[in-house]
Amino acid sequence: MTANDAAGRPDLTLLSPSPAPPELDELVTAVRAVVNKHADWRHTAQLVADELRSHLPSPEILTDEQRVGDPDTHQSHLLHVEPDGAFSVVALVWRPGQVTQIHDHVTWCVFGVLQGIEYEEVFTLDEDGEYLIEAGDNSNGTGEVSGFAPPGDIHRVRNVGEGTAISLHIYGTDVSRIGSSVRRYYDLPIRAS
Ligand SMILES: [Fe+2]
Repeated sequence: MTANDAAGRPDLTLLSPSPAPPELDELVTAVRAVVNKHADWRHTAQLVADELRSHLPSPEILTDEQRVGDPDTHQSHLLHVEPDGAFSVVALVWRPGQVTQIHDHVTWCVFGVLQGIEYEEVFTLDEDGEYLIEAGDNSNGTGEVSGFAPPGDIHRVRNVGEGTAISLHIYGTDVSRIGSSVRRYYDLPIRAS
């Protein structure tokens, strides 16, 4: 399944007919076990991050063509949706300099970098909702895994490396049903903290 959207929204019309690679099967089985504990979002994100760290697949989880990326925008590939909708696994492929809009999410998210570097800027919304305030940044290199849960997850992600970056994202919802993991896009002025 391939997708293209400014913030990584999967294109749901392109379901891949091929069987899942064993690396993906192992990851999905491990994630299913901890999601089924039905912990709160923040705890679930921690548990899923631990499993992604232990079962981080190689970039070859994607096809040669998918790993090339798209010169126009970063791409999303929806790799798995749990039958009960409890979580989805999405791979993102970024050419150098490609960036998301500023956004937040409807549910917890865990991501791991399979190749390259992903740079994340975090923001908070001012009390009146009129502007964003810079709240920090993280540079995530190959092999690094992080997780978070709303609220407080307003962010923007870009590939700051010189090569194509690939990351795997696990969201606590069925992104094929709701269309995206994004709750809101923010087009507001940004102020330094
Ligand atoms: Fe995001």
